[in-house]
Amino acid sequence: MGQASQTSKKLGVKSIYQALSSELDKARESKTYKVEVPVDSIQGGVVQAAGRSQVMLASNNYLGLANHPRIREAARKGLETHGYGLASVRFLCGTQKIHLELEERIARFLGTEAAILHSSCFAANEALFAALVGSDLGVTGNDYRDVIYSDQLNHASIIDGIRLARIAVKTTDVRAYKHNDLAQMKSWLEEDKVKDYRMSVIATDGVFSMEGEYADLADFVKTARENDALLFVDESHATGVLGETGRGTPEQCGVHGKIDVISGTLGKALGGANGGFIAGKKVLVDYLRQKSRPYTFSNSLPPAIVCAAIEAINMLEEDNSLVSRLHQNTDYFRKEIKRLGFKILEGIHPIVPVMVGEASTAMDMSSHLLDEGVYVRGLWYPVVPKGEARLRVQISADHQVQDLDKALSAFAKVGKNLGVI
Ligand SMILES: Cc1ncc(COP(=O)(O)O)c(C=O)c1O
Repeated sequence: MGQASQTSKKLGVKSIYQALSSELDKARESKTYKVEVPVDSIQGGVVQAAGRSQVMLASNNYLGLANHPRIREAARKGLETHGYGLASVRFLCGTQKIHLELEERIARFLGTEAAILHSSCFAANEALFAALVGSDLGVTGNDYRDVIYSDQLNHASIIDGIRLARIAVKTTDVRAYKHNDLAQMKSWLEEDKVKDYRMSVIATDGVFSMEGEYADLADFVKTARENDALLFVDESHATGVLGETGRGTPEQCGVHGKIDVISGTLGKALGGANGGFIAGKKVLVDYLRQKSRPYTFSNSLPPAIVCAAIEAINMLEEDNSLVSRLHQNTDYFRKEIKRLGFKILEGIHPIVPVMVGEASTAMDMSSHLLDEGVYVRGLWYPVVPKGEARLRVQISADHQVQDLDKALSAFAKVGKNLGVI
C-alpha cells in the first residue's frame, strides 16, 4: 500500500505538465489549436487589430450595442448610482431593485411570466438541467425516469447541462437526435410512450451558431404540446436578432409567448458584456432561485451590466430601427457574397457561413483576409463536418454599407487568389 506499483497510472506533477504539453502539440499538429488575435480598440463594426483597421465580421455584436452611446451611458450611470459590484450572491445581499427590474423586463420582452439572471447563459443552461431533470422533486417517489430529446448540434452549455441531469445516477435518459431532424425526434417520442417516463424535455438551440439557421419552433411547440413535453429553447443568437421586433426565433416562427423555457445571453445582441438568464413560468423561476447552484453559489451581476441591459431592452421596445438595420445589412451581404460566386448556407440570419471546403483553405483565407483588413474566423473539422470548412461571417447593425463593400472586395480578391471562386 502507498507504493506505486509498476503498472500504476499515477502521473507525477512533472508528468502532468508533460502530458499537457504533448496535448497542446497534438492540437497544433492537427491545426485545431485556437489562436487569439488581440483587438486593439473598442468592439464595433470596424476595429483595430493586427496593426491595421479591420472590418469586424466575427463578433456577436449584432445590434452594435457593445459601444453604443446609450449603453455606455447607462452602464456609467449604473456604476455611479449602484456601485461596481455587490460582493455577494443574490440571496445574501446581492439583489438590488435593478436586478429585479431587469428580470421583469426580460420576461415581458420574451412573453414569459418571469425570468432569473445568471452570470452567463452557459451557467443558466447548466443550472436548468441540473436542477430540474432527474431530480426527485419529492412527488414521484424513487421509481422514476426522465428523458431529454436534444439536437446533436446544440450548444456546448446545453450538452454540459444535460450531463449534470442525473445521468450518472440513471434517472435521466438522453436521446440526441440528428441535427434538426424532427422526424427522428417525433418517432422516438412515439416509441417512448410505452416507457412511462415521468418528465420529457425537448431541448433545442433557437439559432444554431455554426450554420446560422433557426429551428422550426412552430413544429416544436406543436410536438411538445401533443406529447406533454417541456420545450426548452436557447435564444442566445436570436434575441434582438430574429423577428421583426427582435423577440427572437419564437417571433420569427409565429409562436411568441408559447415556449415553456427560454434561455439567453446578455453577451451578444443585448449589449455584448456578460450575463445570462432563464425565462419561463413563475413557478419554474421561483424553483430555480432555490435550486440553481450557479445562481446560489456565484456572484450577482454587476450593476453597470444590469443597467446597460435594461437600456438595451428599452431601445428594442422603443422601435425596431436597429433590428431592421441588422436585417438590411444581412440581406445585402448575403446577396452580394453570392453574386461574387461564393457558396453560402442559405438563410436569413446575420451568421453567414461562407463555405470553402478544406480546412487549409479556410485557414489561408482568414489569414489573407486579415492582411486585407477583414477580421473573420474560419471553422473546420472537428467543429464542423470534414470537407465543410467555412468562414463564419457575422453581420452587425454597426456596419456601414462601405464596410460591407470593403469586406466583399477583400473576399473577391482573396477568393480568386486561392481559387475558391
Ligand atoms: C447557443 C449558445 N448558448 C449559450 C452560449 C453561452 O453564452 P454566454 O456567453 O452568456 O455564456 C452561447 C455562446 O456562444 C451560445 O452560442
